[in-house]
Amino acid sequence: MKKIWIVNGPNLNLLGQREQDIYGSVSFEAYYKLLQEKFPQVELAYYQSNVEGELVSKLQEIAHECDGVVLNAAAYTHTSVAIADAIAAIKIPVVEVHISNVTQREAFRHSSLLTPVCCGLILGFGMGSYDLGIQALLQE
Ligand code: DQA
Repeated sequence: MKKIWIVNGPNLNLLGQREQDIYGSVSFEAYYKLLQEKFPQVELAYYQSNVEGELVSKLQEIAHECDGVVLNAAAYTHTSVAIADAIAAIKIPVVEVHISNVTQREAFRHSSLLTPVCCGLILGFGMGSYDLGIQALLQE
């Protein structure tokens, strides 16, 4: 059985309440239950932090015990050399996902420091981006 971690960055603990016009009205916890039902053949695990260093430490830690990561680093996508270095340092595939289509939003969201070190990028499918990220890793 494959083990896949979903790692969420800052403010994604507020999904369902936060800017619902952009991110929808479903909490991540509720969506995570649907993912567990949809992928019974996958051992899923979930982590969220609002702290950059904690995300770096988590990526280092889980690299030794899973087959891949679906990562929504949220705002750190656009700023974090530390998270990019962590992804580059670990051997497992990391899929970058975004709920919104960041290329249609403010200019500062158009660049990602993470895309060059991730195995792929999925954006703009709402919470479905996580589902597609898991599917991508299952095809690896
Ligand atoms: C996001 C897009 C980021 O620009 C933003 O900072 C987020 C969420 C998304 O999933 O669409 O917090 O990663």
